[in-house]
Amino acid sequence: MRIFRSTLYSLFLHSLFVLILWSQDLRYIEYDTDLGSPSMFKARRDSVMAKIGSNAIAVFYSNWERIRNADVEYRFRQDDNFYYLTGFTEPESILLLAPNGVTVRNPEDTSKTISVKEVLFVQARDPLREQWNGRRYGPEGAMKLRGLQYATTVDRFRQVFQPAMFGSGARIVYIPPFPSDFTGAMAELLQPIRSMIDASKSRHSQTELRDPSPMVYATRIVKSAEEIALLTKATQISVAAHNQAMMSCQPGMYEYELQAVYEYVYRKMGSEYPGYPCIVGAGENSIVLHYNTNRRQIKEGDIVLADCAAEYHGYSSDVTRTYPANGKFSAPQKKIYQIVLDAQNASIAMMKPGVAWRDVQAKANEVIEDGLLKLGLIKEKGKQEHRRFFIHGLGHPVGLNVHDVGAPILQPGMAYTVEPGIYIGESAAGVDPMYHNIGVRIEDVVLVTPEGNRILSADAPREMAEIEAMMAKKGIGNQPLK
Ligand code: GLY
Ligand code: MN
Ligand code: MN
Repeated sequence: MRIFRSTLYSLFLHSLFVLILWSQDLRYIEYDTDLGSPSMFKARRDSVMAKIGSNAIAVFYSNWERIRNADVEYRFRQDDNFYYLTGFTEPESILLLAPNGVTVRNPEDTSKTISVKEVLFVQARDPLREQWNGRRYGPEGAMKLRGLQYATTVDRFRQVFQPAMFGSGARIVYIPPFPSDFTGAMAELLQPIRSMIDASKSRHSQTELRDPSPMVYATRIVKSAEEIALLTKATQISVAAHNQAMMSCQPGMYEYELQAVYEYVYRKMGSEYPGYPCIVGAGENSIVLHYNTNRRQIKEGDIVLADCAAEYHGYSSDVTRTYPANGKFSAPQKKIYQIVLDAQNASIAMMKPGVAWRDVQAKANEVIEDGLLKLGLIKEKGKQEHRRFFIHGLGHPVGLNVHDVGAPILQPGMAYTVEPGIYIGESAAGVDPMYHNIGVRIEDVVLVTPEGNRILSADAPREMAEIEAMMAKKGIGNQPLK
C-alpha cells in the first residue's frame, strides 16, 4: 500500500512536471522571427467585422488534412483566407467573428464569463500526440503568440457558436461553402452547423447564409508593406534558385536534377514550400505549359524552360527563365527569345497606377504578332494568327496564391506576373523545322508602385548575353555526389 501510494504520488508529481514544462513550451512553436505581425492579422479581422456589420457573424475554417496513401497525409498547407485572417498554420481550426460579441469563459477566472468578438478554435495540447506529430499552439499559444482575443479548443465550437448565432440576433451567417471533398474532424464539426443554419433558415425566413470569401479576396488585391516584404523574399529565393540552376545546367543532366537545384535553394534559404510544382522542360517539353514530370535527359542543343518559384510564409513568387542547355543560344532560339523579351519589356514599361491590365496584355500580343510576322511564322496581321504560338494570358496577380486575386485597373501595391511566351511544336504547320521544339517563356513578378513599377525578380538575368555570362559560371548543382 505504501509502495502503491508513493507510486501514485510520483506519477502525480511527474504529470505536474510535464504539465508545467508543457505550458512553458510555447517558445518552441515559433522559430521564425519574421512571421506576419499579430497586429496585421488583427486589423484584417477587424476589417471583416466592420464589413459584415453587427447583425451578422462569420465563420472561417482551416484546411483539412488529406490522405495521400494508407495512413500518410499530403503535406498540410493552410487555407489562404484563413491564414490571411489568423496567421495560424494548424489544421482543425475555426475562426468565429461576432461583431456583437459572444459570451465565453474568462480564461483568467473560469468561474466568470466575458464577451469577446473573435474566437479561434484550435486543437487541444496533448503531450503524447505532440511527441508523435509535432507541437501545437493550443488556445494559450494562439492568444499569446498569434494575438487572438480569445481561443479555446475546437471541441467547444458548437457550444460557443449556438449562442453567438441565436443569442446575438445575428441574421446573416457568413461561412465559406464546403468543398465536395470536405472530410475529417472539421467536416464532422461543421456539417451539423450548416444543417442547423439551413433549418433555421426555413423557420425564420430572415436568416441568411453568405459566402465571405469574395469580401476577403477583395481586401487581398492590394498588398501591404509587410506582404510586399514577404513576396520580395519569396522572389529573391526564387531568383537565387534560377541563377544557381543556370550556372549548374549542362547537357546530359536530367530535368529532375535541375529541379533538385531549385528545391535545394528554396529550402536552403528558408522557404517552406514550392509555390507550385516545379516545371523544368527541355526540348519538346519546353512547349508543354504545365509540364512537371521532369524525367527527360537534357540534350545538347535543347532549350530549357524552367518555371519554378518558392513560397515564403504563405506568399508565392512565380518566375520563369528559359536558357540554352549548353550555355549558348542557337540562332533560331535567339530569334524567338528576342520576340518574347521585347513583348515582356514593352508590357512592363506600361505598368503604372491607372493603366488597364487588358491594355498591358494587348501590348504583349501586338509585339509578338509583329515579331512573328517579321520572322515569317505568321502571314497576316490582325487575324490572331500569333495565338497559335502564344496560347495563354500575359500574366496574373500573385500573393497568398500563385494565381491570386486582382482587379482590372492597376493600383500601387498590386503584384502581377508578366509572362509572355512562344511555343512551337513539331506539328506546327508551315514552320521551318529549325524552330521546332522551341518553347520560350520569360516570367517576372512586377509590383505596381506609385511611380510606376518595380520588377521584384530583376536579379535573375533576362537578356541573352547576361544569361550566357551567368551560365559560364559554376553553380552548386551538378557536382559529383561522391
Ligand atoms: N507557374 C504557373 C504560372 O506561371 O502561372
Ligand atoms: Mn505565372
Ligand atoms: Mn510560372
